[in-house]
Amino acid sequence: MMSIIFKFIISLLFFLSCNSFTSTEAYDALDPNGNITIKWDIISWTPDGYVAVVTIYNFQAYRHIQTPGWTLGWTWAKKEIIWSMTGGQATDQGDCSRFKTNIPHCCKKTPKIVDLLPGTPYNQQIANCCKGGVLSSWVQDPANAAGSFQLSVGSAGTSNKTVRVPKNFTLKAPGPGYTCGPAKVVRPTKFITADKRRATQALMTWNVTCTYSQFLAQKAPTCCVSLSAFYNDTIVQCPKCACGCQNNITQPGSCVEAGSPYLASVVSGSSKNSYTPLVQCTSHMCPIRVHWHVKLNYKEYWRVKITVTNFDYRMNYSDWNIVVQHPNFSNLTQTFSFDYKSLTPYGDINDTAMLWGIKFYNDFLMQAGPLGNVQSEVLFRKDATFTFDKGWAFPRRVYFNGDNCVMPPPDAYPWSPNASSQQHISLLTIVMTLLSTLTFMFAYA
Ligand SMILES: *[C@@H]1O[C@H](CO)[C@@H](O)[C@H](O)[C@H]1NC(C)=O
Ligand SMILES: *[C@@H]1O[C@H](CO)[C@@H](O)[C@H](O)[C@H]1NC(C)=O
Ligand SMILES: *[C@@H]1O[C@H](CO)[C@@H](O)[C@H](O)[C@H]1NC(C)=O
Ligand SMILES: *[C@@H]1O[C@H](CO)[C@@H](O)[C@H](O)[C@H]1NC(C)=O
Ligand SMILES: *[C@@H]1O[C@H](CO)[C@@H](O)[C@H](O)[C@H]1NC(C)=O
Ligand SMILES: *[C@@H]1O[C@H](CO)[C@@H](O)[C@H](O)[C@H]1NC(C)=O
Ligand SMILES: *[C@@H]1O[C@H](CO)[C@@H](O)[C@H](O)[C@H]1NC(C)=O
Ligand SMILES: *[C@@H]1O[C@H](CO)[C@@H](O)[C@H](O)[C@H]1NC(C)=O
Ligand SMILES: *[C@@H]1O[C@H](CO)[C@@H](O)[C@H](O)[C@H]1NC(C)=O
Ligand SMILES: *[C@@H]1O[C@H](CO)[C@@H](O)[C@H](O)[C@H]1NC(C)=O
Ligand SMILES: *[C@@H]1O[C@H](CO)[C@@H](O)[C@H](O)[C@H]1NC(C)=O
Repeated sequence: MMSIIFKFIISLLFFLSCNSFTSTEAYDALDPNGNITIKWDIISWTPDGYVAVVTIYNFQAYRHIQTPGWTLGWTWAKKEIIWSMTGGQATDQGDCSRFKTNIPHCCKKTPKIVDLLPGTPYNQQIANCCKGGVLSSWVQDPANAAGSFQLSVGSAGTSNKTVRVPKNFTLKAPGPGYTCGPAKVVRPTKFITADKRRATQALMTWNVTCTYSQFLAQKAPTCCVSLSAFYNDTIVQCPKCACGCQNNITQPGSCVEAGSPYLASVVSGSSKNSYTPLVQCTSHMCPIRVHWHVKLNYKEYWRVKITVTNFDYRMNYSDWNIVVQHPNFSNLTQTFSFDYKSLTPYGDINDTAMLWGIKFYNDFLMQAGPLGNVQSEVLFRKDATFTFDKGWAFPRRVYFNGDNCVMPPPDAYPWSPNASSQQHISLLTIVMTLLSTLTFMFAYA
């Protein structure tokens, strides 16, 4: 018992040290170094500027950018213009009336760049481009976690002494959430040719790092967790109003009833491209629910069924993922119909796992409705001190697509009928309540 309490105190300390950062900057305890790095490599000088390849690397373990993809913006330091682009395009040309013969691609002071779509003609492509702005997360698919475009800049400096780096980088994915730091000139990138027999290097390189904060992205949570177990009939639902409350008086139509005739007209209506969720009416009002069901107890193993349900009629999630923190993940033995990888943000503490859908099987979480769910089962090996008591079988934290899910309060977890030692239970309950209260305080303060 003492060792369990000790572990809790350790994790409490971890928690405090990690969460004290969230109030000041974007910091994710489960992905402490997660960031998106934007690298500009100048590959040649032109009579009035330079040609640069810009690469966006998604170094986040589990947060990806899904369709309709990223939009990258910046403010030019001087009067630069973009003569031409390949592998990407500026969304708005702006006022190029001062040019008479050659008309630039974009004359705006603050250009906004988007990726081209797959299937772009070859003469407009460069390596690593044209993914419709989609970037996989680093753990899920590192080969597709970067995207590039090339641009030819005019009215700019023509040497590494006179070039001015752009300012005020912004990254939308497609909504808010990312904050970008200043561009820093770094050691020029070295490129190795495919046959590895020659290295070339950029004439000048700068980097920009952007980090994500869930609290910039949206005020309310977007996901909640419900729990159940074979040894108890109670299904512990998501906390009421976890992501918002039903309010028919001030906000009629804030949610729709499943199967209501009104549904078809809203979903196919003109606001289809809006990213505000249109959720099914539930007590929690979350677009996403993750259900954790302790299903079976074998002699040497125990089995959990995980179901992810989409309640949003306006959103299909492609390449979704969940991250689960549970002390027994080091003994995970097998997952059925999800891909799995262990995350070890603190090196030796192996209690966090990322799960995602199998390509072409269940990597697409369909909009709300009969098909709007994905599920899998997970098998854990028991250890000597195995017990279902005291909520041990339930996860500590769950993320969906990188956003923290609201957990039920620990004292509501389904109890096993054999949970005997009330005194220890209440002690654990206090510690766990404290933990979740702290998360909440730091997170939604
Ligand atoms: C961004 O992530 C990369 C890869 O994890 C890491 O090497 C780099 O230090 C990070 N940058 C910052 C500013 O945290
Ligand atoms: C600029 O180029 C010169 C050589 O041409 C080099 O010595 C210097 O380090 C470069 N400066 C930067 C900031 O890259
Ligand atoms: C960059 O953004 C900040 C804050 O939004 C603003 O004060 C500043 O003037 C901007 N700089 C440029 C060069 O646009
Ligand atoms: C700049 O970004 C590139 C690509 O992520 C990385 O390899 C390089 O280490 C970064 N340089 C610095 C100084 O952060
Ligand atoms: C809101 O309206 C729906 C049907 O229109 C009803 O089922 C639900 O109970 C109402 N909720 C509240 C809080 O009044
Ligand atoms: C989700 O995908 C299905 C099947 O591809 C499609 O019929 C539906 O219109 C999509 N919904 C949204 C909101 O994009
Ligand atoms: C963590 O546990 C998983 C599953 O047992 C294992 O595959 C992985 O190698 C472990 N990682 C570390 C760093 O111990
Ligand atoms: C994992 O299983 C091994 C062998 O059964 C056991 O020694 C270890 O304590 C278990 N770890 C956890 C965290 O359950
Ligand atoms: C999980 O791991 C802890 C610590 O090793 C152990 O005490 C507990 O019995 C395990 N619980 C389950 C359900 O395996
Ligand atoms: C099931 O768990 C609930 C707590 O969520 C508890 O109130 C109830 O007594 C448990 N039922 C049994 C049969 O243990
Ligand atoms: C509860 O205890 C009984 C008898 O001691 C045992 O048969 C049963 O498997 C236990 N149930 C759980 C969930 O541990």
